[in-house]
Amino acid sequence: MTTLPAAPPFALRARLLSPLADGGLLDERDGLLEVDASGRMVGVGPWSDAASASAVDVRPLVLMPGMVDLHAHLPQIPNAGLGSGLDLLTWLDRYIFPLERAYDRSVAERQAPAAFRAFAAAGTTTVVAYAALWPDSTDAAFAAAEEHGIRAVIGKVMMDRLTYDGDIEPGEILETSLRQSDALASRWHGAADGRLHYAFTPRFAVSCTEEMLRESALLAAHHGAYWQTHLSEDAGEVSEVRRLFPEARDYLDVYDRVGALGTRSILAHAIHLSEREVARLVESGSRVAHCPGSNLFLSSGMMPLGAYRAAGMSVGLGSDVAAGPEVSIFSVMRAGAVTQRVLELTGKGDSAGMLRPLDWIRLGSLDGARVLGLDADIGSLEVGKEADVIAIDPRFTNPLPTDDPPSAADDVASRLIFRPHPNMVRAAWVRGRLLDRG
Ligand code: GUN
Ligand code: ZN
Repeated sequence: MTTLPAAPPFALRARLLSPLADGGLLDERDGLLEVDASGRMVGVGPWSDAASASAVDVRPLVLMPGMVDLHAHLPQIPNAGLGSGLDLLTWLDRYIFPLERAYDRSVAERQAPAAFRAFAAAGTTTVVAYAALWPDSTDAAFAAAEEHGIRAVIGKVMMDRLTYDGDIEPGEILETSLRQSDALASRWHGAADGRLHYAFTPRFAVSCTEEMLRESALLAAHHGAYWQTHLSEDAGEVSEVRRLFPEARDYLDVYDRVGALGTRSILAHAIHLSEREVARLVESGSRVAHCPGSNLFLSSGMMPLGAYRAAGMSVGLGSDVAAGPEVSIFSVMRAGAVTQRVLELTGKGDSAGMLRPLDWIRLGSLDGARVLGLDADIGSLEVGKEADVIAIDPRFTNPLPTDDPPSAADDVASRLIFRPHPNMVRAAWVRGRLLDRG
């Protein structure tokens, strides 16, 4: 195999496959991708002898935009695949809170680098992640992302009720958590020349008082940072929120009343919404991380994706490891496609939810970048964007490799989603820098 370039500038001869910002598709069978010394794409188009003498020929690899994972939990990865079908609150208590409690600086220093290598190996070049309650391990996770080279949005989890912090005085939690999060945002939001971002991260309405939700949203606005939480994932959770916030009209209203909705707010799951909530979520410009792998694993429910898209909701994909059992966004696409198929088979589907394989790829890349407001810089192979790119080997398919990969673009995408091979991602670059995939 030809050696792949480790740093910009470089030029690659390969097949280029990418969603385009205008809604179209780039499918250049014999293409040339040129990246300048700053890591931006300066040429995306057909290969030609004259212009491309120095290009590295990596055919039959397919270059695509790196995938965007809008929702993952770094401390939870060791328990991925445990507790299938448990209700959310029991699963958190049994499998998750003990792991997060143990996620101190030394655990994060050991695990976070491996986690970022695993994301890169799966083709993810941007990850939006929750750390644990502890500021020092959140700091270590940021340092690991800085060192690794992945693009990341990370936040310290905030919980001022239903918490696993047994040591702190209840009266001090709110102020301490706000102060620690503020300091982390000052240090990391915009770091690594804008490759790292901070997300204020109140876990969900069950673990947070109204004050925590309100003050965290104010701090996010002050820093121009993201604000992330969970919304309407599981029936037991929804009724607990109704009990804790009797004055709110519904679950979304808990976040709305404290001023937390908007274009920098990323809400994970959002699968049991009323029509009012859908309309208000769209009107507020809030963003949704769709995590169908997780929703199937925990039996949480099935997102009516077609209706949401028809309503104009801004949706991308999230692995939600560890409730989602796999880090790969291609696996998440498969779970999403299965979910929509089941809805269709049971008469609850809708043609807008029946996405083609290439539509799933768009959801996992350019739409994810749009959710983050980063689509001017990443999400597709287009001149002027930063080279967050992956190289796929279409011959790596399960269970048997093939020398005869499909040629139609939708078939290539379909194989990635429905017959993924652990080694099919041969390289991942962020800003033209090759990421370690471990
Ligand atoms: N809701 C609140 N916390 C969590 C979490 O860690 N995982 C999932 N899937 N849902 C949550
Ligand atoms: Zn989650």
